[in-house]
Amino acid sequence: MLFTWLVLLSSCFIWQMTETQLIYRLNKIECQVNQSRVSNVSCHVKAINWNMAVVNMDCFMIVPLIKPVVRVQVFWKDYSNQYKPFLVDVTVNLCEVIERRNFIPYGVIIWKLFKRFTNANHSCPFSGQLTARDGYLETSLLPPFPQGLYLISLVFMDTNSTNKDYVGTMKFFLQVMEQIKRKKKPRS
Ligand SMILES: *[C@@H]1O[C@H](CO)[C@@H](O)[C@H](O)[C@H]1NC(C)=O
Ligand SMILES: *[C@@H]1O[C@H](CO)[C@@H](O)[C@H](O)[C@H]1NC(C)=O
Ligand SMILES: *[C@@H]1O[C@H](CO)[C@@H](O)[C@H](O)[C@H]1NC(C)=O
Ligand SMILES: *[C@@H]1O[C@H](CO)[C@@H](O)[C@H](O)[C@H]1NC(C)=O
Repeated sequence: MLFTWLVLLSSCFIWQMTETQLIYRLNKIECQVNQSRVSNVSCHVKAINWNMAVVNMDCFMIVPLIKPVVRVQVFWKDYSNQYKPFLVDVTVNLCEVIERRNFIPYGVIIWKLFKRFTNANHSCPFSGQLTARDGYLETSLLPPFPQGLYLISLVFMDTNSTNKDYVGTMKFFLQVMEQIKRKKKPRS
């Protein structure tokens, strides 16, 4: 009898372990822009539930983005509450990724997110009103980061043969955590 209980208990435990899933929950977003290139900026995170929050963003490109280049950096918040560089620091030429001339992983992830959640879902250049609606990070898109608090920084520049202009920065503050599930009633 005791043995049966132990087996039942441990199988419950294993079931629970396999049920937990990592999620990337957005807590906050900050946007800064070069005001001579971008106007009417708004960016917000809206919480949907304990596990899910979405990004909505609008801005107007006064100067079209001809050949945008994005620097992607990830920072991890350590025990002294400071953001330290965490593995990722890459610079991506977005047009090349969109034109499938470049398959740099973080560029491909950004492009997937753009296609799904924004109206910047076409080839370069980007001009006029840009919007993002109900955007979120799917766990399956990212490598499994250890649980904790992170900052993902995207710095957009526009380039041509002679110039490199700062366009804007988006900072995503997020938490990598186990999905919070409603407790299931044990079956009797
Ligand atoms: C920016 O926002 C203001 C106020 O909401 C609006 O009057 C203006 O037309 C907007 N400009 C652009 C370029 O979208
Ligand atoms: C791009 O996004 C707009 C607005 O979200 C949508 O109407 C359009 O069909 C999309 N185009 C492509 C090629 O996915
Ligand atoms: C590059 O960009 C700068 C500033 O945006 C502009 O003045 C210059 O004419 C551009 N050069 C070329 C070759 O397009
Ligand atoms: C902001 O954009 C303007 C116009 O393209 C450019 O002249 C200026 O250098 C940019 N500012 C920065 C900090 O790059």
